[in-house]
Formats: sequence, C-alpha cells, structure tokens
Amino acid sequence: MKTRMDFMRMKQKGEPISMVTAYDYPSAIQAEQAGIDMILVGDSLGMVVLGYDSTIPVTMDDMLHHTKAVKRGAKNTFVVTDMPFMSYHLSKVDSLKNAARLMQEGGADAVKVEGADGVTEIITALTHGGIPVISHLGLTPQSVHVLGGYKVQGKDAEAARKLIEDAKKCQDAGAIAIVLECVPQQLAEEISNQLVIPTIGIGAGRQTDGQVLVYHDLIGYGSGHVAKFVKQYASVAETAETAIRQYNLDVKNRDFPEEKHSFNMKEEELHSLYG
Ligand code: KIV
Ligand code: NA
Repeated sequence: MKTRMDFMRMKQKGEPISMVTAYDYPSAIQAEQAGIDMILVGDSLGMVVLGYDSTIPVTMDDMLHHTKAVKRGAKNTFVVTDMPFMSYHLSKVDSLKNAARLMQEGGADAVKVEGADGVTEIITALTHGGIPVISHLGLTPQSVHVLGGYKVQGKDAEAARKLIEDAKKCQDAGAIAIVLECVPQQLAEEISNQLVIPTIGIGAGRQTDGQVLVYHDLIGYGSGHVAKFVKQYASVAETAETAIRQYNLDVKNRDFPEEKHSFNMKEEELHSLYG
C-alpha cells in the first residue's frame, strides 16, 4: 500500500497521483485492480448512492458503513474517508472521537475535512493523535448554503489570495494533502507550486499533483447532471438499464428462465412424491 511518503515523493518527481471515490465492495475492488493510488470514501455517497440532494444529511454511521465495505475490497490501497457534516465542528474531543471511529471501526487510512477557518486546529489535533488528515478547499459541498450554490471558487484576486493562505494554513496545521475542488486552473497551479504537500484536483485543471473523480461520474453510472469537469469513460447506467429492460421482457414473455437455468428431480423421487 502506498503511504503519505509515497505521495510526497510522487509530487517531488512530478508523477501524478490518481484518486477515485468508491462506496462499496465491488467499486473498491475495481479501483484497486485498476491501480488507483488512493481511494476516497466521499460523503458524495449521500448524493450518488443514497439519493439526497446534498452531502449535508450524511451521518457518521453512513460513512462507517461504506468505509468498512470499501476497505474489505481494497485492503492494499490507501483509503481516505470524509468526515461528514458537523462531525468535526462541535468540539476537539468530539472530532477526535469521530475520526478515531472512522479509522478503528471503519478501517480508513486517513480522513478528509472541508475548509480552513475554525478547522485548522482540528487538523492539528487529529494529526497529533496519529490520524492523517487531507484538507478540502475551494468548493466545499458541506458549506453549499453558505457559499450560495455549487460555484467555482477563488475567481477574483481577493478570493484567490484567501485560498492560497488557507491552503498554507492547512499544510502548516499538518494536512498531508489538499483536495482542490472547482477553482480556476491558474489558482490551482499557484497553490500546487507553493505547497510541499500534494494537491489533488477536481475541476481544478491540469497542474495539480493529482486528480480525483467521483466513481459514478467516471463510469457513467449516475443519474442527472454531469459537471463540466467530468470525463465519462463509460456508460454503465445505460448498460445496466438495457440489461434490466431485457430481463423484464423475458420474464413477461416467459423467455426466462430457460431449461438450462432450472434444476431437476430424479425420476424415482418424482414417482415416490406422486405415489
Ligand atoms: O465526496 C466526494 O466525493 C469528494 C470529492 C469530490 C473530492 O469530496
Ligand atoms: Na466530500
């Protein structure tokens, strides 16, 4: 399994870090077999797996449940789990307990937290406790109602300057990497140049030290809006629906099951059954 030192070395050598989200056993196996460097059990699971319209309803129990399944499928891959909404804001003690559960019960190798203001102290406390932390800056979906929507962040010079400062604060607080979501590529490049820890971009252009995509977006397994920054490498939802549609027709037409899908009783057993 790659570790934080490997990710630092990859940044130094200019070798891109690949990350994808996974939420269950099969997706985790697929990511590991595909050679992905880091798996994220994202709280995006609230939207892509559970059908909520934001990540805000996602609970610690949800994250634990899915992290356990992912780690069972990807024992040899660095697994990062999102700390869900409000699980790292109430108090330091509370945050430590929640993060510890994600590692001890869930099997996560690191946790991810959104934002810098009011959070850097938690990053330090978790790091001191032996819990590696990845920061998430730019568009931070848990704050969608504070941000006023899912919009590109850091477009003007003042906001960009604040993001650069936030990124440095997270690094100084102990973060081992920073996810940059939906920021102009020029800003992502500047942050990547100024930090020694790797940046992992999503909608942040080509110059970050790594890239992350949501599993359902990547394989075309989602339903609904696909963002500009997504590249869909397959159309799995379409394939699945076509298969289910055919099964439905086959059942209605008695074309399934066929003889070869059926079990038989021995002749003498049939005899004794009917007397
Ligand atoms: O929850 C998630 O999938 C994420 C990625 C978009 C970085 O946080
Ligand atoms: Na997330």
